[in-house]
Amino acid sequence: MTDRQEDKIRLLIVDDHAETRDNIRKILQFEPDIVVVGSARTGQEAIQQAIETQPDVILMDINMPDMDGIKATELILEEVSFAQIVILSIQSEADYMRKAMLAGARYFLAKPPSGDELITTIRTVSERAKDQRKKLSAPAAEVPAQKGDGRQRPMGKLLAVYSPKGGVGCTTLATNMAIGLNSDETPTVLVDGNLQFGDVSVFLNLQVKNSLVDLATRTEELEEDIASEVLMRHDSGLYVLAAPPRPEMADEVQASQVRLVLRFLRQHFAYVVVDNSSTMDDITLAVLDLADVLLAIATTDIPSIKDARLLFDLLSVLEFPKENILFVLNKTDRRSGITAEAVAENLKQAVEGEIPLDDRTVATSVNRGEPLLLGDRSRPIAKHLLDLLATVKQRLMAEELHDESVGETERLKVFGR
Ligand SMILES: Nc1ncnc2c1ncn2[C@@H]1O[C@H](COP(=O)(O)OP(=O)(O)OP(=O)(O)O)[C@@H](O)[C@H]1O
Ligand SMILES: [Mg+2]
Repeated sequence: MTDRQEDKIRLLIVDDHAETRDNIRKILQFEPDIVVVGSARTGQEAIQQAIETQPDVILMDINMPDMDGIKATELILEEVSFAQIVILSIQSEADYMRKAMLAGARYFLAKPPSGDELITTIRTVSERAKDQRKKLSAPAAEVPAQKGDGRQRPMGKLLAVYSPKGGVGCTTLATNMAIGLNSDETPTVLVDGNLQFGDVSVFLNLQVKNSLVDLATRTEELEEDIASEVLMRHDSGLYVLAAPPRPEMADEVQASQVRLVLRFLRQHFAYVVVDNSSTMDDITLAVLDLADVLLAIATTDIPSIKDARLLFDLLSVLEFPKENILFVLNKTDRRSGITAEAVAENLKQAVEGEIPLDDRTVATSVNRGEPLLLGDRSRPIAKHLLDLLATVKQRLMAEELHDESVGETERLKVFGR
């Protein structure tokens, strides 16, 4: 493997039993690429040592005298965000695993793990730590300057992606549309408007350092340099404004602040794509109010179609311009028996795009954090996404032409009011 000290996988062992710590050391002693940089007996010791030793991987016990491994995981990740935490536990209940994963743990191993299992897991998760270390040391993303060739950049267009039902594919489509819209000529930012449980950063395999909260709470001083610190840059060149790392931080953000942030971004980017949570709260309403095009998504099942109907009814009451809605069906499947024509007829709303169900391709893309449009574009699902991208572009450009013709720089409106 490797002889260079700096290439080795730095491992921290956290367990209150000396015997467990020793056993793990013994299992790993002949692995030339793994170096144990510390071992801790309590949660507090673990936090301290993680800060001091900056490990790539932490093996974390659940039951410790001062705090449980889930709390320790959460606290460590606040300090050493690239560390990959593998929980070792005799408790394997789903609820426990879910809590650990929510706290940011990367993997779960039953105690006692076999030698092979332990070594393979450490090697696999350490790749991600190395990757994230590299990203953290990369220079901050520079926000595109407001003025190009001496002229003011025309106000950027905002694409909001929304569904009243969760899990229908908003984040999948928002991510791919943003990747497709971004270019040197049309710099694009993807904003995670799902402040509590946003997962745009996961879909793009980005490590969150700063988030929308950092811009929203500084709206009086919004300048290019502050935005440059907060925005992240994906390898593709796409700019990303992530959701905060913890759900409770969303409480700090008010809808009026989100509005100001989005207005600021529209001055700097050609396209602002906002992924939203399915909750119709004041933040979602603020985003919809600023949207030039609303990409509304549903799947071909009765509950989703019912919710889409409720959405269109609500939008109509709010006098949201019908021509700004772009309605798309995701996960379409011939076997479902519900056709796009039937949905359009039933909802009195044209279906302008269809993305087929492709569990394997989409799951692999999401789990790897590699958007479909950055992979093989000849795959059927990518072709559908490209068709949708063309439609989205056309609609956004039509909005631009419309604005130019009426000389509008910014619509100031609260829906129909
Ligand atoms: N066309 C598709 N074919 C198969 N699976 C898909 C497709 N589109 C999305 N998915 C899967 O559906 C799940 C939900 O997708 P996604 O997270 O994009 O939805 P969402 O509307 O943003 O959900 P949430 O309400 O959690 O924010 C994911 O597991 C994703 O992999
Ligand atoms: Mg989502």
